[in-house]
Amino acid sequence: MIVCQCQSISDKDIHATIDWMRASDAQAIITPGKIYHALGKAADCGGCMPLFLATMRSNTNTEVPVHLRGLKLGSGRDQRKESGNGRR
Ligand code: FES
Repeated sequence: MIVCQCQSISDKDIHATIDWMRASDAQAIITPGKIYHALGKAADCGGCMPLFLATMRSNTNTEVPVHLRGLKLGSGRDQRKESGNGRR
């Protein structure tokens, strides 16, 4: 199924690119922009983004690696303060 009409990107292209990116870097944060770049293309109208993102989310390889989860800005600092190990 074609996901991006402007660049003729199919769901199979997206899944193959995600799988390749994950295989080459287990810690990669995979974004639509990185997928376009890996395919040598760039988004044009952006109308495909909802379907593009849904296709990405259906691939289990787009999950954020476990050790990188919960790294919201400031969350590490708050955790250190709570445990009494933070710098002041
Ligand atoms: S349909 Fe994907 S950029 Fe236009």
